[in-house]
Amino acid sequence: MKYTTVHDCRKIPLKTIHRPEGQLTIIEAHNQVPFDIKRIYYLHDVPDGVTRGNHAHRNLWQMMVAMRGIVNVVLDDGVDRRGVKLTSPCEGLLVVPGIWRELNGFYDDALCMVVASELYDENDYIRDYDKFLLYKL
Ligand code: TYD
Repeated sequence: MKYTTVHDCRKIPLKTIHRPEGQLTIIEAHNQVPFDIKRIYYLHDVPDGVTRGNHAHRNLWQMMVAMRGIVNVVLDDGVDRRGVKLTSPCEGLLVVPGIWRELNGFYDDALCMVVASELYDENDYIRDYDKFLLYKL
Protein backbone atom coordinates (compact mmCIF):
# COMPACT_ATOMS: atom_id res chain seq x y z
CA MET A 1 0.00 0.00 0.00
CA LYS A 2 2.83 2.48 -0.67
CA TYR A 3 1.26 4.39 -3.53
CA THR A 4 -1.78 5.65 -1.66
CA THR A 5 -2.64 9.35 -1.73
CA VAL A 6 -4.40 11.75 0.59
CA HIS A 7 -7.37 11.50 -1.80
CA ASP A 8 -7.81 7.84 -0.77
CA CYS A 9 -8.52 9.11 2.76
CA ARG A 10 -12.03 10.37 3.38
CA LYS A 11 -14.62 11.32 5.93
CA ILE A 12 -17.26 8.66 6.34
CA PRO A 13 -20.63 9.45 7.88
CA LEU A 14 -21.42 7.02 10.69
CA LYS A 15 -24.85 5.56 11.14
CA THR A 16 -26.49 7.38 14.04
CA ILE A 17 -29.77 6.47 15.68
CA HIS A 18 -31.41 9.69 16.85
CA ARG A 19 -33.71 9.36 19.85
CA PRO A 20 -35.09 11.89 22.32
CA GLU A 21 -33.11 10.05 25.01
CA GLY A 22 -29.83 10.54 23.13
CA GLN A 23 -27.85 9.47 20.09
CA LEU A 24 -26.26 6.10 19.31
CA THR A 25 -23.54 5.88 16.66
CA ILE A 26 -22.25 2.67 15.12
CA ILE A 27 -19.00 1.52 13.49
CA GLU A 28 -19.10 -1.98 12.01
CA ALA A 29 -16.26 -3.90 10.36
CA HIS A 30 -16.61 -4.06 6.56
CA ASN A 31 -19.44 -1.59 6.74
CA GLN A 32 -18.36 1.89 7.90
CA VAL A 33 -14.73 0.70 7.96
CA PRO A 34 -13.36 -1.48 5.12
CA PHE A 35 -11.39 -3.78 7.43
CA ASP A 36 -11.56 -6.16 10.37
CA ILE A 37 -11.30 -4.20 13.61
CA LYS A 38 -8.44 -5.58 15.72
CA ARG A 39 -7.69 -2.64 18.03
CA ILE A 40 -9.25 0.51 19.46
CA TYR A 41 -7.31 3.21 21.28
CA TYR A 42 -8.03 6.78 22.15
CA LEU A 43 -6.14 10.01 22.75
CA HIS A 44 -7.42 12.11 25.63
CA ASP A 45 -6.20 14.77 28.06
CA VAL A 46 -3.96 16.10 25.29
CA PRO A 47 -2.36 19.41 26.43
CA ASP A 48 -2.93 22.58 24.38
CA GLY A 49 -0.51 23.08 21.52
CA VAL A 50 0.68 19.49 21.35
CA THR A 51 1.07 17.63 18.03
CA ARG A 52 0.61 13.86 18.02
CA GLY A 53 1.13 11.43 15.18
CA ASN A 54 4.05 12.55 13.04
CA HIS A 55 4.36 9.13 11.48
CA ALA A 56 3.01 6.91 8.73
CA HIS A 57 2.05 3.25 8.74
CA ARG A 58 3.05 0.72 6.12
CA ASN A 59 0.03 -1.58 6.38
CA LEU A 60 -2.30 -0.23 9.04
CA TRP A 61 -5.75 1.07 8.16
CA GLN A 62 -7.38 3.40 10.67
CA MET A 63 -10.52 5.36 11.28
CA MET A 64 -10.30 8.41 13.57
CA VAL A 65 -13.35 9.80 15.32
CA ALA A 66 -13.52 12.97 17.44
CA MET A 67 -15.77 11.48 20.10
CA ARG A 68 -15.74 14.84 21.88
CA GLY A 69 -14.28 18.23 21.00
CA ILE A 70 -12.36 19.09 17.85
CA VAL A 71 -9.31 17.36 16.36
CA ASN A 72 -7.31 18.82 13.49
CA VAL A 73 -5.54 16.27 11.31
CA VAL A 74 -3.01 16.88 8.53
CA LEU A 75 -2.63 14.12 5.94
CA ASP A 76 0.42 13.99 3.68
CA ASP A 77 1.27 11.53 0.90
CA GLY A 78 4.64 13.06 0.06
CA VAL A 79 3.11 15.12 -2.76
CA ASP A 80 -0.12 16.57 -1.42
CA ARG A 81 -0.96 17.74 2.09
CA ARG A 82 -4.55 18.07 3.24
CA GLY A 83 -6.03 19.37 6.48
CA VAL A 84 -9.13 17.71 7.91
CA LYS A 85 -11.08 18.99 10.91
CA LEU A 86 -12.99 16.39 12.92
CA THR A 87 -15.84 17.97 14.83
CA SER A 88 -18.47 15.29 15.30
CA PRO A 89 -18.80 11.82 16.84
CA CYS A 90 -21.04 11.02 13.88
CA GLU A 91 -18.25 11.01 11.30
CA GLY A 92 -14.99 9.11 10.95
CA LEU A 93 -11.83 9.88 8.99
CA LEU A 94 -10.58 6.83 7.11
CA VAL A 95 -6.77 6.94 6.91
CA VAL A 96 -5.38 4.38 4.50
CA PRO A 97 -1.86 2.88 4.81
CA GLY A 98 1.11 4.87 3.50
CA ILE A 99 -0.05 8.31 4.68
CA TRP A 100 1.91 10.62 6.97
CA ARG A 101 -0.41 12.06 9.63
CA GLU A 102 -0.10 14.88 12.13
CA LEU A 103 -2.76 15.48 14.75
CA ASN A 104 -1.92 19.10 15.38
CA GLY A 105 -4.84 20.59 17.22
CA PHE A 106 -6.95 19.25 20.08
CA TYR A 107 -9.68 21.60 21.29
CA ASP A 108 -12.59 21.54 23.74
CA ASP A 109 -11.23 18.63 25.80
CA ALA A 110 -10.96 16.51 22.66
CA LEU A 111 -11.30 12.76 22.83
CA CYS A 112 -10.03 11.07 19.66
CA MET A 113 -10.84 7.41 19.16
CA VAL A 114 -8.87 5.40 16.60
CA VAL A 115 -10.21 2.14 15.20
CA ALA A 116 -7.41 0.08 13.65
CA SER A 117 -7.05 -2.92 11.37
CA GLU A 118 -4.04 -4.48 13.18
CA LEU A 119 -2.60 -4.91 16.64
CA TYR A 120 0.16 -2.53 17.70
CA ASP A 121 3.37 -3.20 15.79
CA GLU A 122 6.24 -0.71 16.02
CA ASN A 123 7.74 -2.21 12.84
CA ASP A 124 4.75 -0.93 10.90
CA TYR A 125 5.62 2.70 11.76
CA ILE A 126 7.68 5.11 9.67
CA ARG A 127 8.57 7.85 12.16
CA ASP A 128 11.11 9.80 10.09
CA TYR A 129 9.65 12.12 7.43
CA ASP A 130 12.65 11.80 5.10
CA LYS A 131 12.41 7.99 5.30
CA PHE A 132 8.69 8.33 4.52
CA LEU A 133 9.46 10.35 1.38
CA LEU A 134 11.95 7.66 0.27
CA TYR A 135 9.38 4.94 1.01
CA LYS A 136 6.86 6.68 -1.28
CA LEU A 137 9.25 6.80 -4.28
P1 TYD B 1 2.08 6.61 18.93
O1 TYD B 1 1.34 5.75 17.98
O2 TYD B 1 3.40 7.17 18.49
O3 TYD B 1 1.12 7.81 19.39
P2 TYD B 1 0.80 9.22 18.74
O4 TYD B 1 1.03 9.12 17.27
O5 TYD B 1 -0.62 9.46 19.08
O6 TYD B 1 1.67 10.22 19.38
O7 TYD B 1 2.25 5.83 20.29
C1 TYD B 1 2.70 6.46 21.45
C2 TYD B 1 3.30 5.41 22.36
O8 TYD B 1 2.30 4.46 22.74
C3 TYD B 1 4.42 4.61 21.70
O9 TYD B 1 5.42 4.40 22.66
C4 TYD B 1 3.79 3.29 21.35
C5 TYD B 1 2.67 3.15 22.35
N1 TYD B 1 1.49 2.46 21.80
C6 TYD B 1 1.22 1.17 22.20
O10 TYD B 1 1.94 0.56 23.01
N2 TYD B 1 0.12 0.54 21.68
C7 TYD B 1 -0.70 1.17 20.80
O11 TYD B 1 -1.72 0.56 20.35
C8 TYD B 1 -0.40 2.51 20.39
C9 TYD B 1 -1.27 3.23 19.42
C10 TYD B 1 0.71 3.11 20.93
